[in-house]
Amino acid sequence: MIDIVLGGSSAQVLTIKIGRQLKIPTILPEIKKFPDGEKYIRITEDVNGKTVAIIQSFYHQPDEFLIEYFLIADTLKDLGAKKVIGVIPYFAYARQDERFKPGEAISFKIVTKLIEEVGTDEIYTIDTHLHRVEQLSEIFHIPAHNLTAVPLLAQYVKKNFELNNPVVIGPDEEAEQWAKIAAKELEAEYDILEKERLGPSEVRIKTRELDVTGKDVLIVDDIISTGGTMVEAIKMLKEHGAKSVIAACTHPILVRNALTRIYQAGALAVIGTDTVPSSISFISVAPIIAEALRRG
Ligand code: R5P
Repeated sequence: MIDIVLGGSSAQVLTIKIGRQLKIPTILPEIKKFPDGEKYIRITEDVNGKTVAIIQSFYHQPDEFLIEYFLIADTLKDLGAKKVIGVIPYFAYARQDERFKPGEAISFKIVTKLIEEVGTDEIYTIDTHLHRVEQLSEIFHIPAHNLTAVPLLAQYVKKNFELNNPVVIGPDEEAEQWAKIAAKELEAEYDILEKERLGPSEVRIKTRELDVTGKDVLIVDDIISTGGTMVEAIKMLKEHGAKSVIAACTHPILVRNALTRIYQAGALAVIGTDTVPSSISFISVAPIIAEALRRG
């Protein structure tokens, strides 16, 4: 049973929405930056004996939002909070889940360790990039739940676009899990592409025996970052005769001109959720988070 939701500076609107759905008080702490760049946090409300959910998403300035999270969580415990639940809609650093080259930091592991260290008792994330680490429970020692926004993405597409003979595509192997969920919602078939990453913003999508001729395609992925994956996937699907392509993701990070490039590649629409506030965040994850917190 949650008593209070508290919003870090990355997720204040989302926090208000969740608080309203749960009909519980919302706290927006005082957050300032000193002239030298250090963060200042002050929680003036009484949290003694309360169960508090911190909503903080680690997009765009992940390090800054992480530090804020650490300061808030530790302070809540110090002020007597009974339980601190971390709700991290976009969990950054999950893609560095292994030491790919000698000497690399395994960032995913380090970040989860620090989140636990500051007193987090339970954690919720949404469509975290789980690849070599398959379950959050493999990396967290506290109860950890990875929710999904993909049914909401598919329902949005169903409601707002007239799809004719649709097919759902995951742009790489990891995306099969999301393509499967979206395909179920749309009562459509799904398939995945083969992706090879050449650099931070370059990918090569390999051709597969795909029959998308004349079909309306929905591509579903967890993240659109540089847009490289979506651009190459759309180009390939168009070359294979797709009638239209909609690009959907849970986390629209959209660095630099990602959105323009995806439209230039021929996307009919690009949609995402408010785990990362953006111009394409048409879908709110507030109902999924509220429901999960209510269920406990
Ligand atoms: C990685 O495999 C993820 O699932 C996404 O496909 C990736 O993060 C998208 O990045 P970008 O938009 O830079 O291609």
